[in-house]
Amino acid sequence: MGRLSRKLRNYGWYRHLTGRQEPEIYTLFFDGAHERIVSRFLADPDRDWSNVDLHFILASLAETGQDVSSLARRIAPPIAPGDFQAVVDAQLAAEMSDEQPGILSQPRFVHKSVYAAAIGLKAGKRHFIETGTFTGQSLYSISALFGHLSTVEASPDLYKAANALFEATNTKNITTRLGDTREFLKALPADYMNDAVIFLDAHFSSGVTSRLYGECPQIDELKIVIERAPGAIVVVDDMRTMTGKNGYPDLYQVLGALPNTMRAQFSFDQLILMGKDRAVVPGFP
Ligand SMILES: C[S@@+](CC[C@H](N)C(=O)[O-])C[C@H]1O[C@@H](n2cnc3c(N)ncnc32)[C@H](O)[C@@H]1O
Repeated sequence: MGRLSRKLRNYGWYRHLTGRQEPEIYTLFFDGAHERIVSRFLADPDRDWSNVDLHFILASLAETGQDVSSLARRIAPPIAPGDFQAVVDAQLAAEMSDEQPGILSQPRFVHKSVYAAAIGLKAGKRHFIETGTFTGQSLYSISALFGHLSTVEASPDLYKAANALFEATNTKNITTRLGDTREFLKALPADYMNDAVIFLDAHFSSGVTSRLYGECPQIDELKIVIERAPGAIVVVDDMRTMTGKNGYPDLYQVLGALPNTMRAQFSFDQLILMGKDRAVVPGFP
């Protein structure tokens, strides 16, 4: 996908979720225009910025070395455990009432880290492991649901932004790592991984995201987690992008990395691998 068509796709997504005509902050962030984001924010700090915008603004403030503590207090808190089922149900209801999604489609209303969290919690997993932190926004939103969460990011700027968010919000149960997902997954304790849902979401995805360690490490990640954590629930995100183009593997290569005895299913564009435990995919019988 070219740069222009990626932008148009992003515009469509943003407009759909926010109702706004101009995807300014999101687009500026992907273009790495942190100074412009900061000056727009400082020109009108008390505006009713959306929660998503606040996350990007915080990341840009961190990137430009500015204080983030007061902004962090305006960001929506993590989903409370008692509210979680209602959040999942509402997202699924919105998704199902929308036009029929295609095969392996990106959901419009379901947040995929929330969905991965729901799958893990249904299977009784106590921890959450993510590869590809980005701004840390999605991990932050589910941080009250798990005992411990770990994440790795290849981009030093995004790593710094996520740390700024977790520090400013006093989030103590998230461990962040800077580096390549393969080294990260090899170093985690196996018993911790087996008691986790592992959300594989590390790949270059245009703009500020990193391709320092290649475009898409997913096959390597799968081999590592299947060998090291046979009891984990593994959720592989963004399967719609596995087309064999732009350095990504194709679907056959991804599926070919799985043992043929492994129980697996697709939901939206996520591949869900179930270990010893039976995972129940929320919203589907
Ligand atoms: C799709 S984004 C992650 C989104 C995030 N998980 C969320 O739910 O908001 C992919 C991220 O993976 C990072 N990345 C790419 N290759 C990586 C690698 N080999 N190791 C670690 N992170 C990587 C990119 O910099 C980017 O921030």
